[in-house]
Amino acid sequence: MQDVLNTLGNNATNLLENVKNSEELEEIRVKYLGKKGELTLVLKSLGSVAPEERKEIGMLANDIRKKLENIIESKKEELKIKEVEERMNSEKIDISMSKQNLNTYGHKHPLSIVIDDIKDIFIGMGYSIAEGPEIETTFFNFDALNAPFDHPSRDLQDTMYITDDIILRTQTSPVQVRTMLENKPPIKIICPGRVYRSDSVDATHSPMFHQIEGLVVDKNISMADLKGTLNMFAKKYFGDKTEIRFRPHHFPFTEPSCEVDVSCFVCGGKGCKTCKNEGWIEILGAGQVHPNVLVAGNIDPKEYQGFAFGFGVERIAMTKFGVSDLRYLYENDVRFLSQF
Ligand code: PHE
Repeated sequence: MQDVLNTLGNNATNLLENVKNSEELEEIRVKYLGKKGELTLVLKSLGSVAPEERKEIGMLANDIRKKLENIIESKKEELKIKEVEERMNSEKIDISMSKQNLNTYGHKHPLSIVIDDIKDIFIGMGYSIAEGPEIETTFFNFDALNAPFDHPSRDLQDTMYITDDIILRTQTSPVQVRTMLENKPPIKIICPGRVYRSDSVDATHSPMFHQIEGLVVDKNISMADLKGTLNMFAKKYFGDKTEIRFRPHHFPFTEPSCEVDVSCFVCGGKGCKTCKNEGWIEILGAGQVHPNVLVAGNIDPKEYQGFAFGFGVERIAMTKFGVSDLRYLYENDVRFLSQF
């Protein structure tokens, strides 16, 4: 009987030493110490053991039971710690992030670079920045700007209509009259913004593009002031040696009107790829504010005069940065944008 008990004790100890997890531990406990466990059965059967052996075997069985219970208790603790550790390892989430990605900074879009540089120059000349809505009325976009009813720019093929008298503005010029109605002269503003025309997209056209409008209204303003202002601007923006030239043109809202070219900032006027061998690059339309426009803006043309001009931002960005296709400016391809 002693031998049977000792073997049982040794087997159980062996099994416990190699136990791998809590379930296995519980199985072993039940196998030996459970209600019908092997050791429990021995203890229950002590009654049938000869009385002279009973005490000794009883003590041995109890010792083995205590020993096994101790091992089980310490194994239980050991496994609990091990299992928590395993769970923590398997459920670990790496919340750190590679520092590499954070080292690349974005920068301004080429169109914003042009707009901000031009703004800076005019702010330096005492201008302030005005704004106007992109969804505009035909009144401010055409009527107040002295455009006759049959002016071709009103055509459906050129202008995007929302209703008969609400459109997407085709130019930033409506801001001229809006500014006059809200401010008394002297007025000196520029207004950068988006404009829309029903053009299909190609290398030089887009249904949306940007303009910068300029307006000055004061006493004794003439074409000479316009020329002096644009001359100063051209030298600051394109370089000291830059010349400007005025070509006669027509706009309904200025009289006289002109288109303005700058001498090519790449070849200095000799002729090259940038200026298409012309020596000059067209950058804007301008003129003396038409008296009818001043009247629409509630300003007396006998007392005040003004000049206005309008830059095409894309055209300037393309020549300045050597961009051959307008579409690159809108596609937001980082390989293109990162070059500026
Ligand atoms: N609005 C004109 C255009 O879109 C440009 C311009 C502005 C001309 C101001 C004269 C004065 O072409």
